[in-house]
Amino acid sequence: MKVAFLGTGLMGLPMAQRLLAANIDLIAYNRTPEKLEPLKAAGAEIAAHPYQAIRAADCVILMLTNAVAVYSVLLSDGASSNLAGTTVIQMGTITPTESKEIRDSVVAAGAEYIEAPVLGSVPEAKSGKLTVMVGAYQDQYQRYLDLLKNFGPEPILVGPVGTAAALKLALNQLIASLTTAFALSLGFAQRQGIEVDLFMQILRESVLYAPTFDKKLQRMLEGNYANPNFPTKHLMKDTDLFITEAKSVGLNVSSIKGVRQILEAAIKMSFANEDYSSLFSAIHSEQ
Ligand SMILES: NC(=O)c1ccc[n+]([C@@H]2O[C@H](COP(=O)([O-])OP(=O)(O)OC[C@H]3O[C@@H](n4cnc5c(N)ncnc54)[C@H](OP(=O)(O)O)[C@@H]3O)[C@@H](O)[C@H]2O)c1
Repeated sequence: MKVAFLGTGLMGLPMAQRLLAANIDLIAYNRTPEKLEPLKAAGAEIAAHPYQAIRAADCVILMLTNAVAVYSVLLSDGASSNLAGTTVIQMGTITPTESKEIRDSVVAAGAEYIEAPVLGSVPEAKSGKLTVMVGAYQDQYQRYLDLLKNFGPEPILVGPVGTAAALKLALNQLIASLTTAFALSLGFAQRQGIEVDLFMQILRESVLYAPTFDKKLQRMLEGNYANPNFPTKHLMKDTDLFITEAKSVGLNVSSIKGVRQILEAAIKMSFANEDYSSLFSAIHSEQ
């Protein structure tokens, strides 16, 4: 089986590298060609246009920013006419509604569509430890299970297309809300003269603790948001996707809208491309 990998950004590059390391025949495309150099050096075939990669492959993996990027790379005129007979595996974070719309276009072009968004970040992408959530028919899941195992040990079939995308957004809502809640309590403890070590000691022993707190603590204390695995702008994107989708199913989204304002403030402070724990600075700078 030949795989086309479209989108070799922060996540896509290490994922494509894992396929190459597993001796999978790979052709890769990225809008910014410089990012393909490590793959080229490792022996991957490089496509100058998405349609070249799509035409050459049995299966097309997408790891792109958003639905706009998917439409541009996969469903522009030149690309979609080459889709017939392939299977598209969409792994970026998009809404269930967008995923189903893309599925419909892909199926209309004579191809199959699977969604497989992931939880975990660059370290997990490098080590093949991502949590892969699959939205597909059972037989599609079985056919692509071995391929998906290159990214995570136990890809999980969630249900039909849309369900895995929804689950991913539910989890990312937690990333945004938990991190914001922690940053506010940390900032509050500091302003009230409470030792951070004592605050953390009591928190760690309580049922309120989440491991992500310790993961982000040092960055927040140092104001060091450099070399992000997941930049603030992506968490903002996912928060917007969640709000749109949650509203459409009649949920009260007031709490996550507050979180969104904090993310917006962090982005205004020029942290868009920094680690999302930069939202601590947006909270801490308020006087
Ligand atoms: N980073 C994480 O920790 C993480 C974890 C789980 C899921 N995700 C999700 O995975 C997806 C990719 O994330 P990432 O961190 O790898 O992002 P990234 O580093 O920003 O890479 C995004 C990729 O999409 C391409 N792209 C964006 N807009 C495009 C357009 N209009 N036309 C063509 N190509 C376009 C980029 O091409 P260029 O190189 O030319 O810009 C790049 O290849 C996102 O949906 C993200 O939410 C990320």
